[in-house]
Amino acid sequence: MAKEIKREVSLLLYTTSELTTQVKDLISQAKEAAQKARAPYSGFQVGAALLLSDGSIVLGNNQENAAYPAGLCAERVAFFSAKANKPEAIILKVAIVALKMNANEHNIPAPCGSCRQVMSEYESEQPEPIEVYLTGGTGDVLMSSSIENLLPFKFSSDQLGN
Ligand code: THU
Repeated sequence: MAKEIKREVSLLLYTTSELTTQVKDLISQAKEAAQKARAPYSGFQVGAALLLSDGSIVLGNNQENAAYPAGLCAERVAFFSAKANKPEAIILKVAIVALKMNANEHNIPAPCGSCRQVMSEYESEQPEPIEVYLTGGTGDVLMSSSIENLLPFKFSSDQLGN
């Protein structure tokens, strides 16, 4: 009999009124960033707002290009910007808003696999997990207590054997 190797993941579902002022503010900044996204091809505007350990907020949004694969998701724009400018700061929270979506337990604005991979490597290099808040232009907010929770069985530098 094969041995089952299990990883349990879960999200918490919040209505906006249940969130702290700090998280509500982070989400509203991510929403503003989403409104400035460059998404002429998909029309799917996404914004990301990171709260850093120094109290500052770093924003990103998706940037599409006529050469489609050259574009980049909101999350990676925000994470790369944070790490380019403040490499020592810890990333405490990220709010991600997919403007077109009405978020609920059946309709989750989930970050793509490549963004999960990028975010997970930064998370693994810091002492604290990154809290993730996912929402749409309308609807509920889904919270993941870490990036790891979004990417079980992840690929990491451990596998490279260095
Ligand atoms: N997109 C993001 O910015 N973040 C995600 O997590 C999912 C997808 C963008 C990429 C592309 O510009 C558009 O949404 C449609 O896929």
